[in-house]
Amino acid sequence: MSHPVERPRRLRTNAPIRNLVREVDLHPDNLILPLFVTWGKNRKEPIASMPGVFRHSVDLLPEILREAWEAGIRSLLLFGIPEKKDESGSEALNPDGPVPQAIGAIRASFPDFVVMTDVCIDEYTTHGHCGLVKGDRIENDPTLEILAQMALLHAQAGADVVAPSDMMDGRVAAIRTLLDTHAFTDTLILSYAVKYASALYGPFRDAMMSGPQFGDRCSYQMDFRGSREALREARLDREEGADILMVKPAIAYLDIIAKVAASSDLPVAAYQVSGEYSMIMAAGANGWIDTDRVMIESLTAIRRAGAQMILTYFAIRAAKLLRS
Ligand code: PBG
Repeated sequence: MSHPVERPRRLRTNAPIRNLVREVDLHPDNLILPLFVTWGKNRKEPIASMPGVFRHSVDLLPEILREAWEAGIRSLLLFGIPEKKDESGSEALNPDGPVPQAIGAIRASFPDFVVMTDVCIDEYTTHGHCGLVKGDRIENDPTLEILAQMALLHAQAGADVVAPSDMMDGRVAAIRTLLDTHAFTDTLILSYAVKYASALYGPFRDAMMSGPQFGDRCSYQMDFRGSREALREARLDREEGADILMVKPAIAYLDIIAKVAASSDLPVAAYQVSGEYSMIMAAGANGWIDTDRVMIESLTAIRRAGAQMILTYFAIRAAKLLRS
């Protein structure tokens, strides 16, 4: 035969043909912007390891909320940085803390955002762990109560979605039960169901000043040398009442996103975490890669792997680019 029988290149002839056959799209609707909300007033603090990302006090949120809204972003995930930390993370339950206040401010200025909150005590504890600590152990069951109370507080303040990120066993059920008892049956749970113990969270811990003061998170976050456990965690969180399952990190875990998406009938979210953001930004700043193109390529790859929605520090930048 004098010619190839199959010529895949025909489908790549020009942009309209390529667009015709493309399988996935990236749209601002798919993107969720994480926001770090700090205590105090008039504070907009840069984070050295996350160029372009800031900690905002509640009074300075409107500027970034407007920018996000105008770019087409419709969903936010809030993290709180309290003034005081203690052993039990009691500030996580303060109704006047940064997160409940921020929810109020968002509802007052941009009521139509989907407001999600991170539910975890590591930012609120002196030891920086995601659970209560006894000796050198992270205690599972005693932590469930404070997580459920924290989720309830956020729901009462007006959150649409609560997102537990602690990886304690049974927390989705504990949160669902308490929410339902208080008639918050419509509050969604986006569970950080499949969260690996990853070095890619490094810059986030700078941002939140929340690194563990002893040991590591390997007794509750997952071991990156496996994937079958991901399906177990996803199944359990679904059975406990999760509405959306998250996989985290994203780019080094595309196989996990694909497996979870194939194994579950729930929507899948993926978190492109701080280290993924910072690596792209750093290489771009050095002129080694094209930041915008790598950003779009990696976000699209996460969608292609099977995630409907992506939490990303690139949300505003990507949304602006997609709209232009
Ligand atoms: C825990 C939490 C972490 C992140 C989100 N929620 C940090 C951790 O588990 O150490 C990481 C997010 C990121 O790296 O962007 N509350």
